[in-house]
This record gives sequence, structure tokens and C-alpha cells, in this order.
Amino acid sequence: MSQRTLVILKPDAVRRNLIGEIIGRIERKAGWRISALELRELSREVLEQHYGEHVGKPFYEPLVEFMSSGPVVVLAVEGERVVEGVRALAGPTDPIAAGPGSIRGDFGTIVRENLIHASDSEESAEREFKLFFPGAE
Ligand code: PPS
Repeated sequence: MSQRTLVILKPDAVRRNLIGEIIGRIERKAGWRISALELRELSREVLEQHYGEHVGKPFYEPLVEFMSSGPVVVLAVEGERVVEGVRALAGPTDPIAAGPGSIRGDFGTIVRENLIHASDSEESAEREFKLFFPGAE
């Protein structure tokens, strides 16, 4: 089942020069391909839409603040079961709970600075793709 997912390499990943390492792991999965990619800073307006479902949670403000603290890489990835697959590559939200071999498990320690966002469903992926790549197919 071919799908598309929306991935963000967070400001910590860019600051720590982990763009190639993380994208390499995604690219090496058989049959997956990157169909859109951009390095850019995210506005508060876009972030408020992206994280809208988390308004009011204790981590919301620090998360939006962190996500606007520097450039990120936004990419779309297409391929077999890619929504579930990129989240498996990323590992659980808390990097300390994430096992070795996962992106967060290998490189993270702090929950907020957990390196990567990946859509949690095909519906979220389509909504997020439209938000980050408006006008693209
Ligand atoms: S929830 O409440 O279960 O839906 O939350 P979760 O899916 O685990 O996380 C939603 C996004 O919030 C980020 N997050 C945090 N950021 C900063 N600090 C803390 N403590 C924190 N807890 C969760 C988490 O990484 C998710 O962001 P994305 O960009 O999707 O990774």
C-alpha cells in the first residue's frame, strides 16, 4: 500500500548536522522516495496550525517555541507503508525510551529535542502536506 507522509527534521537535528544521517536512513528503505524537500524556518502561524490539537497541553508553548528556534527540513516521503514506517524509524516520543537503532534512540536525550516529526496517520499526512507545501500536488 503506497502512502505519503510528512516529515520534519527539527531544529536540533539541523543544528547538530544530522540532516544527512536521518535522511540517509529514510532513503535506504527499499522503495521509499523523497518527493518534496525544503530547508526553512517555520512561522508561528504555521506551527499553531500544525500543532493545533495540542493547544493547552503543558508542552505546547515550549514545543512551538523550540520549533521556531531555527531552520528545519520539511520533506514528503512516498512508499510502501511509509506512515507507520517512518514513525518506526523515529522511535517513541521520549528518546530515553526509544531503543538503539531508532533515530531518537540513537541521537536524543530530551523529549522536546527529539529530532524528527512524522505524520501519525494518512489523514494527518495529507493535511500536513497541504500546510507545508501549499499548491503542490
Ligand atoms: S500526545 O499528547 O500523546 O498526543 O502527545 P505526543 O503524540 O506524544 O506528542 C505530540 C507532539 O508534542 C511533542 N511533545 C513534546 N514536546 C516538548 N516537550 C514535551 N514534554 C513533549 N511531549 C510531547 C511530541 O514530540 C510531538 O511532536 P511531533 O512534532 O509530532 O514529534
